Amino acid sequence: MLRLVVLISGGGSNLRALLEACEDATFPARVVAVGADREADGFVHAEEFGIPTFAVALESFASREEWGDELLAQIRLWQPDLVVLSGFMRLLPPRVVAALSPYLINTHPAFLPEFPGAHAVRDALAAGVAETGASVIVVDEGVDTGPIIAQRRVPVLPGDTEESLHERIKIVERELLVQTVLDIATGHVDLKELATA
Ligand code: GAR
Repeated sequence: MLRLVVLISGGGSNLRALLEACEDATFPARVVAVGADREADGFVHAEEFGIPTFAVALESFASREEWGDELLAQIRLWQPDLVVLSGFMRLLPPRVVAALSPYLINTHPAFLPEFPGAHAVRDALAAGVAETGASVIVVDEGVDTGPIIAQRRVPVLPGDTEESLHERIKIVERELLVQTVLDIATGHVDLKELATA
């Protein structure tokens, strides 16, 4: 059984998809804790499913490194096999990435390497592309530059707003994320191999 710690910053709809998947006794993973860089709205999903939460706010620390060290300590308490960044909107300090790598994955609302960064949906709309997408990647020290595990295209429709497009992307993201966790748990995806390829 793959033990997951999921990190969020916002509403946590991708987290909820994972929590729902883990309800199935045959799904080979369990969310053991949910962390955030704030008292995230998405904690309500964890609470509904009886999963413990922890918040480590950047503002409470003198430096990013000290914040990262405390976040890492909190994560490690749960002895996860895999850490999932699911709408976690802070860059992890390099030593946190190094400590968790390659068992650290991230969902992103674009077809990477297109539109990395915090405003992927807005950037895709501004670029006027006909399609964007969703990706799940292994986290490395760059911004959305790690090896791609899974991705799928999503069309941009006439009249799309950032919100409407993001909602459609998130439907795809949730499927990719659940499938990716399943593939890692069953050995169909080997993160070590991907990270060293
Ligand atoms: C998701 O689209 C996720 O890919 C994105 O935030 C959203 C979180 O939604 N993350 C990033 O943009 C990271 N660069 P959720 O809170 O409803 O799961």
